[in-house]
Amino acid sequence: MIRSVVRGFGASLPARVVTNRELEGQVETSDEWIVQRTGIRQRYIAGEGETTASLGTAAAQSALDRAGLTPADIDLIILATSTPNNTFPATAVEIQNRLGMSHGAAFDMQAVCTGFVYAMATADAYIRGGLAKRAIVIGAETFSRLLDWEDRTTCVLFGDGAGAVVLEGVEGKGDTSDRGVLTAHLRSDGAHKEKLYVDGGPSTTGTVGHLRMQGREVFKHAVGNITDVIVAAFDATGLSIEELDWLVPHQANIRIIEGSAKKLAIPMEKVVVTVDQHGNTSAASIPLALAQAAGDGRIKQGDLVLLEAMGGGFTWGSVLLRW
Ligand code: ACO
Repeated sequence: MIRSVVRGFGASLPARVVTNRELEGQVETSDEWIVQRTGIRQRYIAGEGETTASLGTAAAQSALDRAGLTPADIDLIILATSTPNNTFPATAVEIQNRLGMSHGAAFDMQAVCTGFVYAMATADAYIRGGLAKRAIVIGAETFSRLLDWEDRTTCVLFGDGAGAVVLEGVEGKGDTSDRGVLTAHLRSDGAHKEKLYVDGGPSTTGTVGHLRMQGREVFKHAVGNITDVIVAAFDATGLSIEELDWLVPHQANIRIIEGSAKKLAIPMEKVVVTVDQHGNTSAASIPLALAQAAGDGRIKQGDLVLLEAMGGGFTWGSVLLRW
């Protein structure tokens, strides 16, 4: 049985860090409010010349370098993003070109904060189905360019950045001791559109629009949805939650992360947290967290790792893999 094994990982952040204190000068907010309600202390904000394509390319190149591979070894690029450089062509194709590739296939995937989970599940299906041998899966965002910088209820929450992994099809035994993606569970429900959306688009207003969110409403659904897809991953594999080495959640809010971990009795020592440094980087948050925890040696080969996210749509999902 073919498994999609992580061969490399990488990350890229904009040069500029913006602290909560700096935001105090822009909207009526405070470091204390932001830290207490969200756990966020700072975020990175893209400057001139920094785009979803440039950050995504840097993360992808770093993942390739760590894997000891070159673009010639890759036949699929999936970019999870809600902030593409242009409406079309897909930013994944621009990244493909920036990497010096003109072979294989590249496309964008849009599931907001769940984008990276959707992209991992999709790349895994392509690899297991024989459509690709090696894929770069990228989460890259410049949410700062979708924010209404006068709306304190949203502008303090988000940041920019990119992360990537290289997946390779490897023959496994077909049991849960295999390295690679073991199971994936994707969900969506469009009934909640108004709770988290962008109020513009090419087919409606003809503008890019701004992010709008009913934060409390999103919060109400988050822990329940997240725990459902975590439980689904363990039910599908027969593994127990106690066997989990690392939970790598989407980084939106420390209270959602702690609430989900508590509900499933996952100790916080097993949870990778980067929301304090990065804020909510949407589809980039999980690969950024993976790159940090694998880079500093916390996540080791053979570890059981669970990725989970919930975001606009609503969309939510999980991927259980052995590193
Ligand atoms: N600074 C200071 N005060 C603020 C700020 C701010 N930045 N923002 C809001 N407030 C005020 C509100 O105006 C309100 O004041 P009032 O009581 O006088 O009316 C008060 O703080 C409480 O506001 P709430 O919105 O009720 O605060 P809450 O405790 O719910 O926290 C938050 C808000 C942090 C947004 C929370 O609801 C949350 O994290 N929700 C989930 C959001 C999320 O995770 N979104 C990402 C999903 S993923 C994706 O797809 C993008």
